[in-house]
Amino acid sequence: MRAVWYDRQGAADEVLVCGELPTPEAGPGEVRVRLEASGVNPSDTYRRRGPEPRMEYPRVVPNSDGAGVVDQTGPGVPARWLGKRVWLYNGQRNGRWMGTAAEYIALDVGLVTPLPEHVSFAEGATLGVPCMTAHRCVFLAGPVHGRTVLVTGGAGAVGHYAVQLAKWAGATVIATVSSDAKAARARAGGADHVINYRNEDVAARIRDVTQGDGVDHVVEVDFGGNLAATLASLRPNGSIAVYATNGDRTPRLPVRELMGRNISMHAMSLPGAPHEARRRAQRDIAHWVATPGRLLSVARRFALYETAAAHRAVEAGGKIGTVVVEPQR
Ligand SMILES: NC(=O)c1ccc[n+]([C@@H]2O[C@H](COP(=O)([O-])OP(=O)(O)OC[C@H]3O[C@@H](n4cnc5c(N)ncnc54)[C@H](OP(=O)(O)O)[C@@H]3O)[C@@H](O)[C@H]2O)c1
Repeated sequence: MRAVWYDRQGAADEVLVCGELPTPEAGPGEVRVRLEASGVNPSDTYRRRGPEPRMEYPRVVPNSDGAGVVDQTGPGVPARWLGKRVWLYNGQRNGRWMGTAAEYIALDVGLVTPLPEHVSFAEGATLGVPCMTAHRCVFLAGPVHGRTVLVTGGAGAVGHYAVQLAKWAGATVIATVSSDAKAARARAGGADHVINYRNEDVAARIRDVTQGDGVDHVVEVDFGGNLAATLASLRPNGSIAVYATNGDRTPRLPVRELMGRNISMHAMSLPGAPHEARRRAQRDIAHWVATPGRLLSVARRFALYETAAAHRAVEAGGKIGTVVVEPQR
């Protein structure tokens, strides 16, 4: 099969190679997916670039996420999976060196979820890391129905799914963004209130729109960078779900304040999140996406052999949605 891989970490143009690899076979409990699209997430580029996280295998086919059609089932997997359109996550993760920058991938059937006909493969490839992470971050502290949820970076790949899932679950949603275009995107996803965190006082606006109460839960894209504003926006017994902290990777925590106000902080990383939480996310996302009209955002599309350019596009920042690569058959 045609695939893209790297044998050492470094800049995309220097280490990514496109060529032929043996087509994988579905092992026990696995399906093989004939890939039509592969999603490129920031974490796929961090792994490729190094030095941290270190390369775990001598060769890596990058990218966690994808979508395609099941064309082979391994021992123990019901034949009804054959021919199913699916999306998948945790491809190049958790002990697998082969990710989705390829024409085929074989992986545990538990990592694939049926994809409805009205969702394209490119859109399906945006559901893995971004939507699964959003789901975990929205729900990890409990149901959000009737609660107020703040989603920082509400126009980002994860953030925009978090806005939509929190709204779907019955929350009042406040999103922060950095531009008018991103504000429109957050509103289109269902945000009830949108705050430009670059030129507005986030905590003051949140006090305003919550009549002084603050929010119940925060889905946080930059824990360290936003810490002061986030804490000032939370009500007592509130919670924060952290999925990134690029503004300050080692923030100083006011633990006594967190204790005094009973604020809980949940740091999460999708690949190792509890199995039951991931299964629930797959079930809920399948249910959510079954209704046409959900906003699944493909930022840019590249051919598989252009995977290096796709990785560079993610590293350049400013993407709106998820960058996708597609095999040209
Ligand atoms: N823990 C996990 O399992 C997990 C899973 C998925 C992603 N991540 C990480 O999460 C980060 C975002 O991923 P993504 O794919 O969603 O990226 P993305 O599509 O680029 O979205 C990030 C968004 O956050 C906004 N932003 C950046 N700093 C902000 C701040 N201080 N306050 C509010 N908004 C801010 C950005 O817009 P502006 O710069 O215009 O504000 C952008 O809209 C990456 O570092 C990724 O590796 C972690």
